[in-house]
Amino acid sequence: MTEETLKNITLPKHIGIIMDGNGRWAKSRGLERTEGHKAGANTFRTICDYAADLGIEYITFYAFSTENWKRPHKEVSTIMKIFRDYLDEANEREAENEKRGLRFHLTGEKKGLPADIVSKLTTLEKNSADKDVMTVNLAINYGGRDEILHSVKDIAQKVKSGELNPDKITEDDIEKGLFTAGQPDPDMIIRPSGEYRLSNFMIWQAAYSEFIFMDIMWPDFTPDDLDKAIIEFNKRNRRFGGV
Ligand code: IPE
Ligand code: IPE
Ligand code: MG
Repeated sequence: MTEETLKNITLPKHIGIIMDGNGRWAKSRGLERTEGHKAGANTFRTICDYAADLGIEYITFYAFSTENWKRPHKEVSTIMKIFRDYLDEANEREAENEKRGLRFHLTGEKKGLPADIVSKLTTLEKNSADKDVMTVNLAINYGGRDEILHSVKDIAQKVKSGELNPDKITEDDIEKGLFTAGQPDPDMIIRPSGEYRLSNFMIWQAAYSEFIFMDIMWPDFTPDDLDKAIIEFNKRNRRFGGV
């Protein structure tokens, strides 16, 4: 995006991205699906750095859903290996993260993820906790329904202990129990791959998000496509129920 364009547009504060289409990208090239996931991970690296350079404050990458465990074992284990490699790399490139001011945060269930991945994620979260340029939410083992359930359980505990009166439960109380607690809702959710659905992504937070569906596969997604999505976002008239 040129400096001039950047000056004249409103950047979404929070962008959600459903990184979809890796398998089809690979298939169309006669490659194994797993090759698509490797290519998709490289796109993630590029887009994450580019978003920070643009000045985006929050970005959530949907990388693995609570439903994706039903895929063949080989595919799941390759995806886990990609996470391991990426987390090692992110933990090692601390100076670069520091420079860009990236704060990493897991938005997903730790329970169910391999212990070493949880530990690498925890290290990354801890070491980047004081950065404040862009928050990068990694939605790994994430499901929107699971996230709401998580919050409901927190509330039930508080009601049980007498800390919260059931008649006084507010939307804020539900928000506090989400993995994105304290963050603004996504202004824009991008889904490449030609599918027109959320697939359980941020279903609470997406109440007033602008959806941008794109007909390309995630590994082919470029910074230029992010620019296009942001420009399209600027043409939308957000009313939030008002006039
Ligand atoms: C998204 O790409 C990555 C994950 C869900 C982990 P897909 O693997 O869903 O790719 P398609 O949709 O089959 O092409
Ligand atoms: C959504 O994509 C999950 C991620 C991109 C991580 P899926 O490929 O799992 O979604 P469906 O099955 O097409 O709805
Ligand atoms: Mg898919």
